[in-house]
Amino acid sequence: MPLFNVYPLYDVTPVSGKGVYVYDEKGTEYLDLYGGHAVISIGHAHPKYVEAISNQVAELGFYSNAIQNPLQVKLADKLEVLSGCKDYELFFCNSGAEANENALKLASFKTGKSRVVAFKNGFHGRTSAAVAATDNPSIIAPINAQQEVTILELNDISGVQAELEKGDVCAVIVEFIQGVGGLDQGTAEFFEKVDKLCKANNTFFIADEVQSGYGRSGKFFAFQHYNVTPDVISMAKGMGNGFPIGGILIHPNIEAKFGMLGTTFGGNHLACAAGLSVLEVIEDQKLINNVNVMSEYFIKIAKTIPHIKNIKGKGLMLGLEFDFEVGDLRKRLIYDNHIFTGGASNKKLLRILPPLTVRKEHINMFFEALIEALPEVEAAEELQTQNI
Ligand SMILES: Cc1ncc(COP(=O)(O)O)c(C=O)c1O
Repeated sequence: MPLFNVYPLYDVTPVSGKGVYVYDEKGTEYLDLYGGHAVISIGHAHPKYVEAISNQVAELGFYSNAIQNPLQVKLADKLEVLSGCKDYELFFCNSGAEANENALKLASFKTGKSRVVAFKNGFHGRTSAAVAATDNPSIIAPINAQQEVTILELNDISGVQAELEKGDVCAVIVEFIQGVGGLDQGTAEFFEKVDKLCKANNTFFIADEVQSGYGRSGKFFAFQHYNVTPDVISMAKGMGNGFPIGGILIHPNIEAKFGMLGTTFGGNHLACAAGLSVLEVIEDQKLINNVNVMSEYFIKIAKTIPHIKNIKGKGLMLGLEFDFEVGDLRKRLIYDNHIFTGGASNKKLLRILPPLTVRKEHINMFFEALIEALPEVEAAEELQTQNI
């Protein structure tokens, strides 16, 4: 049976991983500065993670949400301490889109309203309300387009004010650092005003931390770089280091009701064992501190390379902007230098999303490869533009 052909694939077949490296079937080593799309937080096959999942699956992999599950409580307690989101409550799900879908649904239930404000170049997932709030018409099917969503420019505070004052907006959803869109960020003044406007207009402020959360930005959540208090925080990617787990953190002012949200698989025993070991490793190995040290090191070197026109993002959610499209550069880095990097909808941006355990030696390897590849890529680009 053929696979439904929705992904353009690189011709690489990783079969194992260790730390910041993955290995193909011939044993070739690849440096993973893409983190499997910002998912790998504590590194591939971390021994504590492997042990936690292996032990749990041998005991009890799954039971439904109709019974007591102390692992959920343990994870929630640890998350409260590490994130600093005191008194927030946790609802588990399985992916980023599902986290945002639940966040938006909760906003609509609680405010009794249905319109959503989202931002240009934002990405929130592919399910119904999440994809409708995503600024990419090519992935919005007619069934999703029934949602009422208004897309505004980032930093358009008067636009946000005008929309919220109409009285029908249940939520403003934002990535504090845009992922797929290309690492753009609103200003502190903008985010802080949006927060106030939401509170004044009975509108939920939803922080989509699916990609930027779990330490990637240099703080546990990217919104913590600002003075804001989101009503709901959505999480997924780094939460399970590859095990499918997502969740939302819900402000203590928002009261739960039986049946309001629900899931079969969310918060299962195996997912919680994975999620708990991720938090323990983040804490034990002081990974958020490592993010900040490595980020500073990376940016310092990037600034010395004249081909790089702009350095975007925070922490280890970084982008290097060139004045040419980076598709060929990414291929060269993979096939010649065996280094994975990421792309974005901004075709001139190379995204760097390594495991949070990355070290200086890996960053050095990347820049050595980049410096070697750049003249050749630029020469090929030049020939293309001259149509030779
Ligand atoms: C900011 C953001 N929100 C939501 C999602 C959707 O997550 P998932 O693919 O797990 O549904 C993504 C995925 O890239 C994302 O980057």
